[in-house]
Amino acid sequence: MKSLTWSLIYISTTILQHLVFAQVNNDIALLNAAIEQDLDIAASSTPMFRASDDTQRNNINNMVLYWGQGDFGEKRLSYYCDQEGVSIVVIGFVVDFIGGPRKSPILNLSDNCNNVENCIEAARDIKYCQKKGIKVLMSVGGAAGPYHKQNWDPDLFAWWMWNKFLGGTDKTVPRPFGDAILDGVDYDPESVDGLGYDRHIDTLRQLYKTQYPPREYLITAAPQCPDLDYYPKNAVYNILHPAPKYDAYPDMVFVQFYNNYCSASAHQTRGSTQFNFDVWDTWAQQRTKGRTKIYLGVLGKENHMDTGYVSYEKLTVILDDIRRSRSFGGVMIWDAGYAYSNTVQYLNGLTYGQATFKYLDQLNSGNAKTAKAFDSINMAFKDHRVPILVPLDSSNSDLPPPPVPCTGLSFLLLRSVSGRVLASSLGSSADSVDQHLESIGMDGDDPINPGSRICLISNLNTNSVVIGYVYNASIIDDQELSEFYI
Ligand SMILES: *[C@@H]1O[C@H](CO)[C@@H](O)[C@H](O)[C@H]1NC(C)=O
Ligand SMILES: *[C@@H]1O[C@H](CO)[C@@H](O)[C@H](O)[C@H]1NC(C)=O
Repeated sequence: MKSLTWSLIYISTTILQHLVFAQVNNDIALLNAAIEQDLDIAASSTPMFRASDDTQRNNINNMVLYWGQGDFGEKRLSYYCDQEGVSIVVIGFVVDFIGGPRKSPILNLSDNCNNVENCIEAARDIKYCQKKGIKVLMSVGGAAGPYHKQNWDPDLFAWWMWNKFLGGTDKTVPRPFGDAILDGVDYDPESVDGLGYDRHIDTLRQLYKTQYPPREYLITAAPQCPDLDYYPKNAVYNILHPAPKYDAYPDMVFVQFYNNYCSASAHQTRGSTQFNFDVWDTWAQQRTKGRTKIYLGVLGKENHMDTGYVSYEKLTVILDDIRRSRSFGGVMIWDAGYAYSNTVQYLNGLTYGQATFKYLDQLNSGNAKTAKAFDSINMAFKDHRVPILVPLDSSNSDLPPPPVPCTGLSFLLLRSVSGRVLASSLGSSADSVDQHLESIGMDGDDPINPGSRICLISNLNTNSVVIGYVYNASIIDDQELSEFYI
């Protein structure tokens, strides 16, 4: 128990003035406002925090999910579009470029659509997702499929894609998703010759421009992490290095950092590493002046088909490392079924997908004052020891209610941190923290795990704000907790 509950660490005495009034009136709302205000002051006075950081950087809280090829048990598309933070779903795959009616491309959506020229349920869900502001892309390629052995025509294939899935209006072309109009095409050609892809994309972009009224269509690609190198069977190379006459650079690149030596699992916080996000960032800066956004592609769950999975914990460390790369755009997860069936045990039942979005959103440091304040506090800490917290409010229904109500501001810890670092990040002196921890039988180096709740409350006796308690919500015992709490 002692290592789970950690009560009454004093923080910032400068809060004092703001609090006197609140305490006299014993008004929780005022108290919360005062804490927030203090955090805000801390944020604006932290030298590493600059307001311009916020306005200049792009949003990075984007989540991209692949859907369509999941094992039996993958849920319908609308289920994933109901998940918090999903910005794009990519449907996999068009596997046959010329085998359909009148030699049109053919889909394979695994168990999700048996009659591949008429996918009624998926069509309905595509519209549902789009209504929620989520973009839906059609991916071309994948690991399996006849396209590997086909001779295809870049211009004709573009014409088919335009009329079959996008804004094209040729009435003679069967449309698997009916009148649903997808938002663009993603390219994942694997182990084939790349000749013609740059021309094909250029032609498709010309067709995009014929849409009236205009509409934004995307081109994306999903290379594997070694694919900036040329080798004969690397088709994406042609898309990443198009001939100058073609307008073929993708708008976004969802790099598969798995199944390769340069996978996310190879990431190291110190020393040299084969994980190569930086190389992709450099490519984007040099080739498209950063216009192309690079996404960190990860596996949503450990599985028999793939290697290079990283736990949520490790993912957060990697994100801390790459979040400031200029072309970083967000996280891609292969695939939706994995990401939302993989429970992150220490996060009280949040799935990998849910937790990843919360973390990204926190890094993106939305509008909440507290989030901003904590962002700046976090920036002040290096070496990945940073506490990263998300404010919790009563509307956060993903989590079970705490056994003891937080009478101040409640936070969820998203990353492992030692007690000492957490306390000092909130303004306690190292000595006082050590003394306090010793007095309750803890060591300052003891880790507090992700999923722990932290409550900032006022201490009426000393007129200061304290970390009221830290606890493990999954095994907490009210009686024992109250011993520390009261
Ligand atoms: C889809 O691809 C899988 C794997 O290659 C294959 O077993 C299945 O028959 C294909 N389904 C359709 C409808 O073509
Ligand atoms: C909570 O306790 C369980 C069981 O001891 C443990 O597996 C888990 O890691 C703990 N979580 C936190 C956040 O400390």
